[in-house]
Amino acid sequence: MKPVKVGLLGLGTVGGGTFNVLRRNAEEIARRAGRGIEITFAAARDYDPAGLPGIDSIRVTDDAFAVVNDPEIDIIVELIGGYEPARELVLTAIANGKHVVTANKALIALHGNEIFAAAQAQGVMVAFEAAVAGGIPIIKAVREGLAGNKIEWIAGIINGTGNFILTEMRDKGRDFAEVLAEAQQLGYAEVDPTFDVEGIDAAHKLTILASIAFGIPLQFDKVYTEGIGHITRDDVSFAEQLGYRIKHLGVARRTAKGVELRVHPTLIPARRLIANVDGVMNAVLVKADAVGATLYYGAGAGAEPTASAVVADLVDVTRVLTADPENRVPHLAFQPQSLADLTILPMDDIETAYYLRMCVADRPGVLADITRILGERGISIEALIQKEPGEDAPQVPIIMLTRVVREQQMSEAITQIEALSSVAGSVTRIRLEHLSST
Ligand code: HSE
Repeated sequence: MKPVKVGLLGLGTVGGGTFNVLRRNAEEIARRAGRGIEITFAAARDYDPAGLPGIDSIRVTDDAFAVVNDPEIDIIVELIGGYEPARELVLTAIANGKHVVTANKALIALHGNEIFAAAQAQGVMVAFEAAVAGGIPIIKAVREGLAGNKIEWIAGIINGTGNFILTEMRDKGRDFAEVLAEAQQLGYAEVDPTFDVEGIDAAHKLTILASIAFGIPLQFDKVYTEGIGHITRDDVSFAEQLGYRIKHLGVARRTAKGVELRVHPTLIPARRLIANVDGVMNAVLVKADAVGATLYYGAGAGAEPTASAVVADLVDVTRVLTADPENRVPHLAFQPQSLADLTILPMDDIETAYYLRMCVADRPGVLADITRILGERGISIEALIQKEPGEDAPQVPIIMLTRVVREQQMSEAITQIEALSSVAGSVTRIRLEHLSST
């Protein structure tokens, strides 16, 4: 059978990795796919031919639309990133009857509903394994491997840059900005690194995971997103003393009242495997009713790890090129007409435990005032550390862990605590998840 012809949009970190992996492993890939998969046309504004052996043998243009409009091309691989022109390119490719493989999480999270509807109407595939957790085949695992389960919750470290920063802060006491610059140099960080540190990138990925886990439309605008910029080395150290690690977690949980969708720094017990996922590595913990908890670990970014997922999608698409569209794996795991309109809970209604840090006056009765405010709202304290005052320091830090409570109760309690004259400044609140598999 003739090789399938691929048009590649982007020859940056992931585009270059994809080009190289496809060429290096061409024989093995053809044995798996049943035919060769060849990039014959690529679009890139700027690229380094030195790192791309064989690039001279294909056509390269700076006009991405020339590639998506080329009738010779069967599959478009979109590795440009960002919202536009990626959206227009993908929709044009679909309109031209081409299948699409993309690593673009922002595009899928925000425009996936529109893109999948267009693909459905045209009978083409849009594959996006590389959009979530880089090289970890998490889309495949959740969408197909766990298809017999009702998924209860997902908790993931799904941004390598943020995890690298938190790990270096904890292990080496390094400065936030310096670590971020290193992640940028290594090609892990987004073009706009605030997407990494503010949790937007993780929210894109969580949107996709929640959709394929629960069979709901993509709803990025309903994800609560909080970054890691306010986490101090003291918080990291107090958490350690209490037996926890701080991770920037994406959490999607199905509850009786609706779905929780949230990205925020989170204390997790240090003994959990996922708490020990360090550096740029990603991990996704999935709790499902039949299988229980399963954990998926690997490189969440980087040229060849991400290329691994892109090429796996190319193999998948190549295999089903001739299959009847009705018999393919649905884009969002569930049949399009069976997507459920579950309520996404506002943050006030989520339930979690908390780590609180506050600075209080060193005098009798202060702790009693604070515990009374918490007690009045049914908030139970699980652990407490009060540090000794430093010399000449009129204030002492108090650190508390609480039991699970509704977020609104906690917000009200924090407002009241902050209003006490004995409490200086604001209360630091970090959510805490036990991630128990039972
Ligand atoms: N900026 C992302 C990360 C790249 O650091 O995880 C992979 O999506």
